[in-house]
Amino acid sequence: MGGTNPYIEKPETGLPQKPYTVTFHRPDGPAIVFEVDPSKLPYGPTGLPGSILDIALNGGADIDLEHACGGVCACSTCHVKVVKGLDSCNEPTDDELDQLDEAPDISLNSRLACQCVPNGTVDIEVEIPAWNKNLVKEGH
Ligand code: FES
Repeated sequence: MGGTNPYIEKPETGLPQKPYTVTFHRPDGPAIVFEVDPSKLPYGPTGLPGSILDIALNGGADIDLEHACGGVCACSTCHVKVVKGLDSCNEPTDDELDQLDEAPDISLNSRLACQCVPNGTVDIEVEIPAWNKNLVKEGH
């Protein structure tokens, strides 16, 4: 499932103008470094175009990140922590912050992967929480 949520405020995002890398730190394996090609965004229909979820699921990075609502800011299963490069991402909307409140183990660098769009000015690093692997999956 993909698309947009008509009931939430539309986030202001800036898509990257040059390639940059996203390093995914996974709880169940070695880190994966993926280079984002701005000319190919969006990679797929799930999450905001160019979002961390879009990159993880559709970009070829092959990261199995949970996304129970289909990437429309209506759950909190895509919670990740942006441990490097958070300043290069769009500001979270109030709707995103409301959903994040439902996630366990949130911190100041917590974001919803489907709503967090890096602008590509710096390489970023993302930590996938261990509990993310144990939730109900959609479409797998
Ligand atoms: S997938 Fe549901 S909020 Fe991101």
